[in-house]
Amino acid sequence: MRPSLLLSQLLPLAWLQLASAGSQSPKRGLVFTPNDDWPEDNKLWAAEGSGLTWYYNFGWNATAAYSTTPQDKFEFVPMMWGAGTENGTDTYFLGNITTTMEKDKRNITHVLSFSHPEQNFTNGGSEMKPVVAARAWINNAIPLQKMGVKVGLPIVGDPYSWVDPFLKNCSALLAKEKGEDKDSRCTFDFMPITSYGNFSVLKSRVDLFANAFPDIPVWVVEYGYNDQDLATTQKFFNESLPYLDSTDIVERYAWFGAFRSIVSNVGPNGAMLDPYGDLTDIGSWYLGGNGTGNEALPTDTPGNSSCTAANPCGKNAGTTLRSDVDLLFSDFLLLFAAPFFRVN
Ligand SMILES: *[C@@H]1O[C@H](CO)[C@@H](O)[C@H](O)[C@H]1NC(C)=O
Ligand SMILES: *[C@@H]1O[C@H](CO)[C@@H](O)[C@H](O)[C@H]1NC(C)=O
Ligand SMILES: *[C@@H]1O[C@H](CO)[C@@H](O)[C@H](O)[C@H]1NC(C)=O
Ligand SMILES: *[C@@H]1O[C@H](CO)[C@@H](O)[C@H](O)[C@H]1NC(C)=O
Ligand SMILES: *[C@@H]1O[C@H](CO)[C@@H](O)[C@H](O)[C@H]1NC(C)=O
Ligand SMILES: *[C@@H]1O[C@H](CO)[C@@H](O)[C@H](O)[C@H]1NC(C)=O
Ligand SMILES: *[C@@H]1O[C@H](CO)[C@@H](O)[C@H](O)[C@H]1NC(C)=O
Ligand SMILES: *[C@@H]1O[C@H](CO)[C@@H](O)[C@H](O)[C@H]1NC(C)=O
Ligand SMILES: *[C@@H]1O[C@H](CO)[C@@H](O)[C@H](O)[C@H]1NC(C)=O
Ligand SMILES: *[C@@H]1O[C@H](CO)[C@@H](O)[C@H](O)[C@H]1NC(C)=O
Repeated sequence: MRPSLLLSQLLPLAWLQLASAGSQSPKRGLVFTPNDDWPEDNKLWAAEGSGLTWYYNFGWNATAAYSTTPQDKFEFVPMMWGAGTENGTDTYFLGNITTTMEKDKRNITHVLSFSHPEQNFTNGGSEMKPVVAARAWINNAIPLQKMGVKVGLPIVGDPYSWVDPFLKNCSALLAKEKGEDKDSRCTFDFMPITSYGNFSVLKSRVDLFANAFPDIPVWVVEYGYNDQDLATTQKFFNESLPYLDSTDIVERYAWFGAFRSIVSNVGPNGAMLDPYGDLTDIGSWYLGGNGTGNEALPTDTPGNSSCTAANPCGKNAGTTLRSDVDLLFSDFLLLFAAPFFRVN
């Protein structure tokens, strides 16, 4: 056999096959958004061969559609989101994660902590003062770290303004309780960040955090180039994957778009599903497949007065669509902007 000849014969073919297909990556995951209207869409992301390795859903409990999927097939990463009480003294998160690990035998290795504590509830943040977050961290995150679970820094806009007082408050409280030994310091294991904007914005957000805390892995848990035309969105998408895959400090990432284009709150073109629940080009590429040509806004989309939710036409005939395009956003506000302790 002459391997070099074999290789040169195979390469052009391999290149042709990859030319219009996406790639897969062990870093790639799913930011799961609640989906009561089309639960059939949920299965897609965890299907055999989807290539996605992990997901989170903004809460501590696994998504029902994946509740029987083992961690090594599709890893669930719980999120605390906010504290269960106004003063942060509760341990509901620790309690539930411990139960999940011990009773449900789900091998949790990573958890996300608070989601935008520096922003108020109206803005969709978890509105936590650094000192309250510090209390909640000591009660929930530190015991998990002692069990070997890696805990992410709260998701924040920048690594300084809220993070500095949070870490100082946390270490001060800890030192007061545990004495002055040198281990009395709050530490975190990875940095989840979000990015909405062009490719420079994405790179500079990764660099901002990587420079603030060198050697701590970055997870881009939500990203996209929102509200752009299709060509701009696809160009950004195509640039982002090789960058995220090849940048060592980036340990994981998740494209924000696991929903139908008609309920997108980031513009239709970043959505991974068209109005009928079929993969768009970006959706298919994200899962490692070929482009589909399915349009985010085909001509028979609701909004076209001859095709309505009440009178669907085209490919959609015979199904029911929700007609208001802002629903995803209002679902988010309802679910996540309301403080946890007031919901319960
Ligand atoms: C994006 O990449 C796909 C292949 O993965 C290719 O078919 C498409 O033309 C690219 N689009 C742009 C705008 O770069
Ligand atoms: C957690 O989710 C499962 C479905 O995945 C559900 O059966 C269970 O009731 C949920 N637990 C709580 C406490 O909400
Ligand atoms: C924190 O708040 C909870 C519930 O609101 C209350 O029961 C508890 O006593 C408070 N703890 C402290 C230390 O203030
Ligand atoms: C789990 O979380 C729920 C809220 O979702 C809370 O009511 C319950 O007390 C928690 N369980 C434990 C064991 O802490
Ligand atoms: C949990 O998963 C981690 C990472 O995959 C692995 O190293 C560890 O052995 C697993 N633990 C158990 C109890 O299965
Ligand atoms: C929430 O924050 C935004 C932006 O900082 C501000 O404009 C708004 O007034 C705040 N809302 C409340 C209810 O505090
Ligand atoms: C928390 O930090 C704030 C601002 O840096 C400071 O004023 C306060 O004294 C700190 N509280 C504790 C308990 O360390
Ligand atoms: C990327 O976006 C930033 C922020 O909006 C802007 O300042 C910059 O000019 C943009 N860069 C390119 C290459 O378009
Ligand atoms: C993509 O298309 C090529 C050429 O038609 C085909 O050989 C390949 O199997 C397809 N890949 C996937 C993942 O469907
Ligand atoms: C509306 O949908 C109908 C039926 O699919 C199609 O024939 C027509 O071209 C569409 N009109 C527009 C303005 O997109």
